[in-house]
Amino acid sequence: MTAGVPLVVMEDVNKSFGDLQALKDINLSVDKGEVVVVIGPSGSGKSTLCRTINRLEPIDSGRILIDGEPLPLEGRALARVRADVGMVFQSFNLFAHKSILKNVTMGLIKVRGMSRAEAEDKAMELLKRVGIADKAHRHPAELSGGQQQRAAIARALAMNPKLMLFDEPTSALDPEMIKEVLDVMVELAAEGTTMIVVSHEMGFARSAAQRVAFMDGGRILEVSPPEQFFAAPQTERARDFLSKILAH
Ligand SMILES: Nc1ncnc2c1ncn2[C@@H]1O[C@H](COP(=O)(O)OP(=O)(O)OP(=O)(O)O)[C@@H](O)[C@H]1O
Ligand SMILES: [Mg+2]
Repeated sequence: MTAGVPLVVMEDVNKSFGDLQALKDINLSVDKGEVVVVIGPSGSGKSTLCRTINRLEPIDSGRILIDGEPLPLEGRALARVRADVGMVFQSFNLFAHKSILKNVTMGLIKVRGMSRAEAEDKAMELLKRVGIADKAHRHPAELSGGQQQRAAIARALAMNPKLMLFDEPTSALDPEMIKEVLDVMVELAAEGTTMIVVSHEMGFARSAAQRVAFMDGGRILEVSPPEQFFAAPQTERARDFLSKILAH
C-alpha cells in the first residue's frame, strides 16, 4: 500500500501569460494511487495546471516535484519525466498518417528501446484492454471519437506512466461514446493509477476520485472528497458553479 506518498507536489506555483495570471499560488499534492478531479469554469486555469506538470508550460515561480524530484528544466532529464507522465487531451492527438498500432508502438520503440515485436505485443495487449484490438491496423480517421480517445489512452499507458493527466478527455465526444471512455478511466483508477483528471463528469468524480479540486480565476479555491464537495461546497463560487452544471 503506497497511499500517503506524494507523487506530484505543486508549491506556490504561479504562471502568467503576459498580463493574465493563469495560475495563482497553486499548492496541490497528489498521492501515489490517488485520483484528483479538477473542475471549474472556463478560463480558470485547469488546462494550464495540467500543462505545467509536464512542463508543456514553464512556470514563473514556485516548485513542482514529481516523485520527489524537481521538474527538470530541459534536456534528457525532462524527456524522461515526460515519458513517465501520460497525457490525454480533449482532441485526440493521434498521428493521423499512422495506424493505431503504430501510434501505440512508436514511443515504446523510440523512447523505451523495445524491439518492434515486443512493442507490438504490448500494444496489442493494451488495445485489447481498452476494447479496440480490432482497430489496430486502421488509421485514426477510421475510428469513432470514443475509439480514438481509447487509442490515445492506450498510447499513454504503453509507457507505464507514473502519472496520467487527462484534460477533458470526454468533452468532444457524443454521449454514447463518453461512457466507453469513462469506463476505461474508472478501471484505471480502480487499479491504483495516479490520475489528475480535468472533467465535469460528476458521475466519474463521485465514483473514481478521492478528491475534487475546484479552480476559479487561477486559484484552487477548495479541495475536498467528492461526497463532501458535492453535498456542501465551502465557497460561494463553487456553489454557484455546481448549481450551473448540475442544472444541465
Ligand atoms: N498560451 C496561452 N497564451 C495566452 N493565454 C493563455 C494561454 N493558455 C491559456 N491562456 C489563458 O489562461 C487562462 C487559463 O486558461 P486555461 O486554458 O488553463 O483554462 P481552462 O480552465 O482549461 O478553461 P477551459 O475550461 O475553457 O478549457 C485563460 O484566461 C486563457 O485565456
Ligand atoms: Mg481547458
